[in-house]
Amino acid sequence: MKKIEKIKELTDKKIWIAPLAGITDNSYRTILKDCDADILVSEMVSADGLIYNKERSLSYARFDDYQRPFGIQLFGSDPQIIAKATELIITEKPDFIDINMGCPVKKVVNRKAGSYLMKDEKTACDIVCSVKNKLQNTEILLSVKIRSGWDFQSINAISFAKKIEEAGADILIIHPRTRSQMFSGKSDWGIIKKIKENLTIPIIGNGDITAVQDAFEIYEQTNCDSIMIGRGIIGKPWLITQIKHFLLTSKYLEINYLKRLEIIKKHFSLSIKYRGEDIAIKEMRTHFSHYTKGIRGGAKVRDRINKSGSKEEIINLISEFFYEQN
Ligand SMILES: Cc1cc2nc3c(=O)[nH]c(=O)nc-3n(C[C@H](O)[C@H](O)[C@H](O)COP(=O)(O)O)c2cc1C
Repeated sequence: MKKIEKIKELTDKKIWIAPLAGITDNSYRTILKDCDADILVSEMVSADGLIYNKERSLSYARFDDYQRPFGIQLFGSDPQIIAKATELIITEKPDFIDINMGCPVKKVVNRKAGSYLMKDEKTACDIVCSVKNKLQNTEILLSVKIRSGWDFQSINAISFAKKIEEAGADILIIHPRTRSQMFSGKSDWGIIKKIKENLTIPIIGNGDITAVQDAFEIYEQTNCDSIMIGRGIIGKPWLITQIKHFLLTSKYLEINYLKRLEIIKKHFSLSIKYRGEDIAIKEMRTHFSHYTKGIRGGAKVRDRINKSGSKEEIINLISEFFYEQN
């Protein structure tokens, strides 16, 4: 497929799932795909890690073919190291590589990666050029995920995005909060609109899509090409199905508790398949907590699940809980 067609296939009114470290692992991504997600991205993978601690970092990058179109997200601060990591990672044959220029956490920005790069435009552009260079003669696309800037005094998303486009990015993803906002306050969709007006590559709008109406409104307000959903799908993978239905029909689709239970049980069984029973029981506690949040009796069942070390007992607890809601 020609690159131009592939770009269209990935960005023409699609639902992208945001990379969410600690949440969107292989098992949850399969669930999200089942719920009709169009484009999936790995959790962020350290470029340095890929070179110096290959197996562990590779485990974050691996994916099932079912999850395609699929992107591997890299973070790092050195153009040469990211280029070398790209060379290693393209053997996994992702559909695109995404460069993280938005992560606000200290551990990442202290290494001059993630959103720090919005303060160092030259290095950011060198990174894009060096990765693009490695992707020449492949069908793998390059996206870059940015924020609105470092802080309110230095909002540079529009000029920065233009430079990223000139450096060779095929797609731009924008989460319009500053680094100093972290995840608080509201994202400024006006910035998405301005970027869309000023760039020619497709723009993926991200930030605060937590309900079907938000998906409709972000398209209306920004004219973005596709949308990316992050926290909205934590504990609610079926939100994707509901958004697709709403955008097509303007009607709200109810997902009943039995359907939810079926999805949750599959998630647990996939987690056991990929991680083994003991780790899956521990890792799924976060997800069970989100799945039961805001539902009558949720606190009690969460407490019992958190104390249980038995797969069968947890399945019984969660099944009983959702049957009672029905
Ligand atoms: C728990 C968590 C983990 C995240 N991990 C990543 C990550 O690995 N890479 C990245 O680019 N952004 C990461 N983000 C940011 C999201 O991808 C997204 O840009 C942000 O949450 C805004 O979208 P939302 O309002 O739909 O959640 C993370 C956010 C959260 C809450």
